[in-house]
Amino acid sequence: MEHKIAMLGFGVVGQGLAEIILEKAGSLVQDTGFQPKVVAISDKMKGAVYNPDGLDLSEVLRAVKETGTLDAYPEESGLIRGWDSFQTITETNADTIVELTFTDVNTGQPAIDHCKAAFESKKNVVMSNKGPVALAYKELSEIAKENGVCWGFEGTVMSGTPSLRMPLVSLAGNEIREVKGILNGTTNFILTRMEEGLRYEDALAEAQSLGYAEADPTSDVEGYDAQYKITILANTVMNIPLSRDDVSREGIVHLTQEDIHTAKSQGKRWKLIASCRKEGNRVIAKVGPEAVPLTDPLSSVGGAVNAVTYDCDLAGPITLIGAGAGRKETGFSILIDLININRNQL
Ligand code: HSE
Repeated sequence: MEHKIAMLGFGVVGQGLAEIILEKAGSLVQDTGFQPKVVAISDKMKGAVYNPDGLDLSEVLRAVKETGTLDAYPEESGLIRGWDSFQTITETNADTIVELTFTDVNTGQPAIDHCKAAFESKKNVVMSNKGPVALAYKELSEIAKENGVCWGFEGTVMSGTPSLRMPLVSLAGNEIREVKGILNGTTNFILTRMEEGLRYEDALAEAQSLGYAEADPTSDVEGYDAQYKITILANTVMNIPLSRDDVSREGIVHLTQEDIHTAKSQGKRWKLIASCRKEGNRVIAKVGPEAVPLTDPLSSVGGAVNAVTYDCDLAGPITLIGAGAGRKETGFSILIDLININRNQL
């Protein structure tokens, strides 16, 4: 079935998604029944184009690559230029809005307002912005439900590694007593490189140059990014209405080479661990450095890789390891939400 998409924001993830759609158009329909048609793209810096009959994605990518803007997209019948984000949400014929704007993680804006406008216009939303889920999960999921539309955000935690869908679908029926993981790739990369002998500053600079770090790396190294992600896991996978400020937080900036080598000599490795655990009627949620024994699967996860362990009453502990960031990986996280909306399985 044809599924019309409007994209808000056309940066790394948006372009990654467009490339995947182009590359896989044929096999997607055949394998999943999903037939994506991108009708609108609106980006604050690059401009906007809308064609209710569908845009030519190879021309979109060519225009952006050559000139950095959508102004270079060729004239074609039905094309409208210059739509703003709210018009793109409410006035286009899209079934689903893919929300990939630069959003302030502390306020969740403008993505929260984009979600509300889309739901109220009976449109689904798929996104990888953490702010709206960590700050307004209950409110936004209720608005989506009232309007009979879907809200997909698999990419907010561990990008395309299915940290949300896997437990919700494949571990259903278990009580998940604890979720504990390495949810920030930048800090794991830094700790791995420090163990190899690099200084903290050099390891951070390398993580930045490889594109793992947030625009402001304070969010990574002080534990804010992991705090958002464990809040999302608690709300969705554990069904605990935790707010970000319920999660105590400590970063890795105080860890020294000496701490790292002492842990190593004791058969341990420092990791930035985010966890949420049920203890009777209490919930304990925290982010902080922990010296993890080498017997724990989380200790073997090196570099920018992420991992999460779900402690289940029936299935026991299950650990998922995979990418936590990346153009293709996050593009895939958007695609899998779209495929599942199209299958009515989100
Ligand atoms: N800065 C994040 C990380 C990117 O290092 O994990 C993905 O959210």
